[in-house]
Amino acid sequence: MTDGSETFSSVNPARPAEVVGTYPKMSAADVDRAVEAAAAAQRQWARLPIPARAEIIAEAGAVLRRRKSELSELVSRECGKILLEAGGDVQEAIDMAGFVAGQGRSAWGETVPSELGSKLCWTTRAAVGVVGMITPWNFPVAIPSWKCFPALLAGNGIVLKPSEHAPRCAAAFVEACVEAGVPADLIQLVHGYAEPGAALAVHPGVGALSFTGSVPTGRKVAAAAMETGPRLVSLELGGKNAMIVREDADLDLVVDGAVFGAFGTSGQRCTSTSRLLVHPAVADEVVDRIGARIEALRLGDPVDPATDIGPVITEESARRIVAAVGAAAAEGADVRRGGGLRMDVEGCQGGAFVEPTLLVGVKPADRAARQELFGPVLAVLEVADLDEAIDIVNSVEYGLSAAVYTRDINAALHAVDRIDTGIVYVNAPTIGAEIPLPFGGTKHTGNGFREAGARGIEQFSQIKTVYIDYSGRLQRAQIDNREPLS
Ligand code: UN1
Repeated sequence: MTDGSETFSSVNPARPAEVVGTYPKMSAADVDRAVEAAAAAQRQWARLPIPARAEIIAEAGAVLRRRKSELSELVSRECGKILLEAGGDVQEAIDMAGFVAGQGRSAWGETVPSELGSKLCWTTRAAVGVVGMITPWNFPVAIPSWKCFPALLAGNGIVLKPSEHAPRCAAAFVEACVEAGVPADLIQLVHGYAEPGAALAVHPGVGALSFTGSVPTGRKVAAAAMETGPRLVSLELGGKNAMIVREDADLDLVVDGAVFGAFGTSGQRCTSTSRLLVHPAVADEVVDRIGARIEALRLGDPVDPATDIGPVITEESARRIVAAVGAAAAEGADVRRGGGLRMDVEGCQGGAFVEPTLLVGVKPADRAARQELFGPVLAVLEVADLDEAIDIVNSVEYGLSAAVYTRDINAALHAVDRIDTGIVYVNAPTIGAEIPLPFGGTKHTGNGFREAGARGIEQFSQIKTVYIDYSGRLQRAQIDNREPLS
């Protein structure tokens, strides 16, 4: 371990003077020790039958369920999520435990008939050894669970580097795993800023690296890994998620969906709705109704059940978002609602809140229509034609989530076909993915892997193809029992 002389603290974003957790700032040498310890523990763990590992994962889900209230409050205090959404974060981890535990008693590979007699052909999945994970603060329990549970089921050890803004949530998640029976050495936490993450990315003892975070950091991590680090690198990066509203849409649904999608979690989900592409025939009504809903949203202490919108993660982040709104106005957008930094919210001394913001008259080429802001800002673009709307959805560098609101089944399915994001919703907002289905995106949102779902295990394991010949003689594939050369 580090000598403990240097520490850092996570704070409550609603009241930054309130320290939530203090942890050692770990170094590359600490990462070496963590990888070594996880590797040693992994050798035992990999010998445990898969259903036995699954039972421990199921138990981790049970521990999380017992602690749901306590953990939700911690998520709220450390990351500023309103209590209801903090509960959703913890629930997502509980769901993941249940799903992955079930996978431990499900098919583990394929068998196919051999072209030769007395021969078996099948696949199995092997652990990669130690998995390095770098996780963000915005789903501080759910995202570690998306990575840790499948990695554990596959028989790996783990070194987890959580965001410096959410170390205590990660520690609470790991404690729940250990209480459930995951060997303590098998799941190592390394705390700090960039150094331990960077060290993990280039570590020759790490077999796979799973990263969720921003595009620039993800690119750096992946490039570094290619040199000396893990061969298997999975990236889950940004989004610029759009909601298309056709003129026939149910506008009650649209307004509910846009408000939850854009302003839920203070707009700080990878899946948050940040573009609304609306038909001119309904644009004014939609904008007015969203505007009215914004007026009624209550900014406040996230642990207060009456609060709708919590602070953003840091004042720096708030200032960046507000500056981007200013830049959008300079580019010609009409800041119809919000746009301000609020640091005077009652009971939240020093907490940085961004007012839910509605930008109207945004053009497809504007930065507000292309850049991920990671804040409660919705850019409205008027688009008359569905195909044009789809082209705009597809025109950004990201491809995570999109939604289309319409009552026309043909239009909906046409959009599903042509939108090139990893997740498409019909008549539901761009947030709210469920655990049994793959989560991830196209283009610069990722590098082709998906998290959760039955294939979530792929980024943490290697397929091994096995042939067993029990004929007792040499059998030649592609040669025996074939037409002779003429
Ligand atoms: C994220 O923001 O990185 O679909 C994850 C959703 C959540 C997960 C979001 N279930 O919005």
